[in-house]
Amino acid sequence: MYHTLTVVALTQETPDAVTIHLERPDRQPLASQPGQFLTLILPCGPGGKKERRAYSLSSTPQEAPRLSVTVKRVVGGLVSNYLLDTVRVGQQIEVMEPLGNFVLQPNAGGAGRALVLVGAGSGITPLMSILKAVLRQEPQSRVLLVYGNRNEDSVIFKDQLAQLEAGSQSRLQIEHVYSQPLRAGGSHQHTGRLNRTTLLHILEQRRDFPAPQCEFYLCGPDGMMNEARAALDLLLVPAARIYRESFVAATETAEAAQAHGDVSTSPADSTDGTRLVTLHYEGSEYQIKVPPHQTILETALDQDIDLPYSCQAGLCTACRGKCLSGKVHLDEREGLSDSEIKQGYVLVCVGHPMTDDVVIEID
Ligand SMILES: Cc1cc2nc3c(=O)[nH]c(=O)nc-3n(C[C@H](O)[C@H](O)[C@H](O)COP(=O)(O)OP(=O)(O)OC[C@H]3O[C@@H](n4cnc5c(N)ncnc54)[C@H](O)[C@@H]3O)c2cc1C
Ligand code: FES
Repeated sequence: MYHTLTVVALTQETPDAVTIHLERPDRQPLASQPGQFLTLILPCGPGGKKERRAYSLSSTPQEAPRLSVTVKRVVGGLVSNYLLDTVRVGQQIEVMEPLGNFVLQPNAGGAGRALVLVGAGSGITPLMSILKAVLRQEPQSRVLLVYGNRNEDSVIFKDQLAQLEAGSQSRLQIEHVYSQPLRAGGSHQHTGRLNRTTLLHILEQRRDFPAPQCEFYLCGPDGMMNEARAALDLLLVPAARIYRESFVAATETAEAAQAHGDVSTSPADSTDGTRLVTLHYEGSEYQIKVPPHQTILETALDQDIDLPYSCQAGLCTACRGKCLSGKVHLDEREGLSDSEIKQGYVLVCVGHPMTDDVVIEID
């Protein structure tokens, strides 16, 4: 599950974003799917503590053995600044194997489909992997990319995207949305925020991508994805055709978890104190006592149980498990679909036991 990769090349995409190209020292491929992410484990915390962050793969499996991630600087952010300021070719980086459910399964022999990818800022990274996979492996399929940025200079993969579009025989079409454009653009450039109105306007113009028949992949700030979702609801796009990936936890998530009915009470209401949780992982059984102020993952890690995790924010699903008995409250449920919640899946990084009989089988 853990690997040490070597940085084999770096590409400065914008002043604030770098692509880190990684390979195993023996150049053997690591299995991945378009849209998945890699977890980087870096000794940049206080006192050299190891920190983990998820970074979506911008490469596709066809580029194996190379795996590429693109990191954008977050103001005040620990790991993104560490990487942008110190990463160098030849450096070794510990990673977890590629994970994630925001994936596209290429269907090479299929009749072809129409995909609409909606992204903003660093949200382009998994979409880049997905669009390259479709262009290479699905000759009958077409892709519309709607990509929001501040201006022309903040566009990650700008030249690569232009080249892919030019060589795609119209199978890839790009609509750029700039909140503060530097120059006037052509008909495929829009000014303003990538919100509901802008997306509706673009999809209205793009009759070659009839919304209800398209598959939508969304990745960007939560506000943008909520706006996109509202536009797609108005256009009667079935929820099953909409996939989304969040990089940052939303703020109203506790309410979201309750609204979906997967909890009976919130941890704030609980006065029962510590709860017993049984974990099954890789053939072993562990029993832990989880205090009310801790998540199941925090307690397990405190007891040196080496569970898989990455974002620690309920987004990436690296820590997913199936709740076989008892009740678990989730502070955040962005990473899980309604169907996974119904099947009893939980994320232990944001999970609190609500009863004393909780048993979780970690994936
Ligand atoms: C599944 C997944 C895939 C991801 N893929 C990518 C990727 O391809 N490229 C990429 O650059 N990042 C990606 N991220 C985000 C990445 O994991 C880190 O969260 C990000 O680099 C910030 O880490 P940090 O240590 O610099 O900031 P931290 O020290 O962890 O956070 C500092 C502050 O910044 C806020 N913050 C964290 N991330 C963001 C953000 N993206 N935008 C604005 N504010 C933020 C935090 O809430 C916090 O307040 C992904 C996250 C997930 C869950
Ligand atoms: S570690 Fe990412 S969802 Fe739990």
